[in-house]
Amino acid sequence: MEQKRSGFSGKLGFVLAAAGSAVGLGNIWRFPYLAAQYGGGVFLLCYIILAVTFGFALMVGEIALGRKTQLSAVSAFSTLNKKYSFLGYLAAIVPMIILPYYSVIGGWVTKYLAAFCTGNVAQAAQDGYFSNFIAQPGEATLFFAIFMGLTALIVLFGVEKGIEKVSKFMMPVLVVLSVGVAIYSVCLPGALEGAKYYIMPDFKNFSFTTVIAAMGQLFYSMSLAMGIMITYGSYMKKNVNIESATRQISLFDTGIAFFAGLMIVPAVFAFSGGDKSALGQGPGLMFVTLPKVFNSMPGGGIIGTVFFVLVLLAALTSSISLMETVVSIFIDKFKWNRKITCLLVFGGCVAVGLVSVLGYGPWAEVKIIGMQMLDFFDFISNSVIMPVVALLTCIFIGYVVKPATIIEEVEQDGAKFKSKKLFVVMIKYVSPVCILLILISSVLNAFGIIKI
Ligand code: PFF
Repeated sequence: MEQKRSGFSGKLGFVLAAAGSAVGLGNIWRFPYLAAQYGGGVFLLCYIILAVTFGFALMVGEIALGRKTQLSAVSAFSTLNKKYSFLGYLAAIVPMIILPYYSVIGGWVTKYLAAFCTGNVAQAAQDGYFSNFIAQPGEATLFFAIFMGLTALIVLFGVEKGIEKVSKFMMPVLVVLSVGVAIYSVCLPGALEGAKYYIMPDFKNFSFTTVIAAMGQLFYSMSLAMGIMITYGSYMKKNVNIESATRQISLFDTGIAFFAGLMIVPAVFAFSGGDKSALGQGPGLMFVTLPKVFNSMPGGGIIGTVFFVLVLLAALTSSISLMETVVSIFIDKFKWNRKITCLLVFGGCVAVGLVSVLGYGPWAEVKIIGMQMLDFFDFISNSVIMPVVALLTCIFIGYVVKPATIIEEVEQDGAKFKSKKLFVVMIKYVSPVCILLILISSVLNAFGIIKI
């Protein structure tokens, strides 16, 4: 007999824990640079449309699969259909790829927090500060190891509960601070143009890559297509309404991403004097732009420090849930003890993460299909494996276990599934076709076979 699973106490506990995993660097670091790069308002619009249709359906499906089977991803698929056990394993690979490079970015956040704490705000705001930092592998490795070590320690000692408590209190502070900094950013001279670019869709900027980038970001940000929400669902009580919990998680996640973009994109316009090429900076955008905003702000040193503490916490709650997933996969599979598994996962992640660190420094010339290491890991997980997992999950729900199984789970305890029709249409028809198209074109594009 399996032990009774410990569970979340109620809906709020579930929503906050899932939001803790969902809200992280994906919202604050990744979303703004993608929005800046891929057309501003049209990217935002695409993202929101995808979130309320496709993201909604997939999240409901994953949570319901977990709650129905009371199992985590690897076993959930195989229990419902033996032939699909590979899907659980495929989903399990994603956190293993993401965790190392996620921690590299976590290291960057730690470095900026250290700079702000020691009063080096003006230096951090200078041009070249970020590029010099990532070009020197010594410092970047040190901060990456600190972040990774912190994550491993928390997972090892199982103090997630403590961290979760802190983050439940910190999350609202993060929201308030993001809104405040966003308002300040928009009021900077020259920033209004940027706010317009970010909010008003201009279809001249639309391209197929906009949709591809928005969809990859959706998986990443909502922790979808990697088995996480299945595991979370398995801890959820039967009387919690899956549909409204999903709506709340996505609202929270999208809200934070929206304000992060509003903090950063208008400020890019303000500090670059309207030079549009500054928008295409990629992964460094937040680190280059935000220190300039804080440096120009009265009391910016303190506000910036608080801000980076909160970002670090949001990043940690996400990296913990990533590492916990990886560790528990190994424990379940090989029955290793927790301490040794944590140590091995930590070692493995440091080794793999180092490749990403060096890829921005001494190995800058080494490229895989034209990408730097970190960007390559990001591409493989977000644009290849996650769409494959999402596609197969849709097929699994739509045609193998059938949507009725999910609907029945959502309607437990007398709950009414309001968007039932939308769910079925999305899972059976729209999502699989769209994902397939997107997957094929993004891979062909990466190999230079087509240009989109
Ligand atoms: N959703 C997180 C973010 O947006 O930062 C990233 C992530 C965390 C993905 C945890 C998966 C996960 F298990």
